[in-house]
Amino acid sequence: MSTTVGDLLRRKGSQVETITAQESILVAIRRMSEKHIGCLAVVTKTGKLSGIISERDCLWKVIAAGKSPKTRLVKEVMTSVAKMHTVTPQQTAEECMGLMTSGRHRHLPVLADGKLAGLISIGDIVKEMLDSQQATIASLEKYITGTF
Ligand SMILES: NC(=O)c1ccc[n+]([C@@H]2O[C@H](COP(=O)([O-])OP(=O)(O)OC[C@H]3O[C@@H](n4cnc5c(N)ncnc54)[C@H](O)[C@@H]3O)[C@@H](O)[C@H]2O)c1
Repeated sequence: MSTTVGDLLRRKGSQVETITAQESILVAIRRMSEKHIGCLAVVTKTGKLSGIISERDCLWKVIAAGKSPKTRLVKEVMTSVAKMHTVTPQQTAEECMGLMTSGRHRHLPVLADGKLAGLISIGDIVKEMLDSQQATIASLEKYITGTF
């Protein structure tokens, strides 16, 4: 049976680090640095998902463009929810991998009944794939050596 996004969130936790669109890029960079993560979900004051901002957005669109992270705002470089992929807890890890690869995304927000319910990164998916492959190999080894 395929691992679902819900399974992954039960293992890694469903808390999402967020920021609002009106905050500065400097605040976003500091929050990502403090939490050791590469993106923040952008939410409204009521907690509704409005987009996502990644370390790459900050680096490419602000720092490399010679703009000041102190004065530039999240809303200027974020990807809005209408232009990005989200997933539901029922979708599988394989579907996430497909979306991340085809859309060149490294993070996917999870929405349950339209509400922000977690966030999955490319590293979470790679770890799941490795764990799953290792379990298959261990099971095959037991079968071959007759210790099944
Ligand atoms: N051992 C593990 O379980 C594990 C899981 C994921 C990533 N990693 C490693 O961490 C490094 C960076 O990972 P990455 O490229 O996937 O991205 P990342 O640094 O953004 O993500 C690292 C972890 O933080 C979580 N995360 C990221 N942004 C979040 C947010 N806004 N709110 C809540 N959680 C958030 C991700 O889901 C992931 O579990 C890689 O070397 C990767 O292999 C390890």
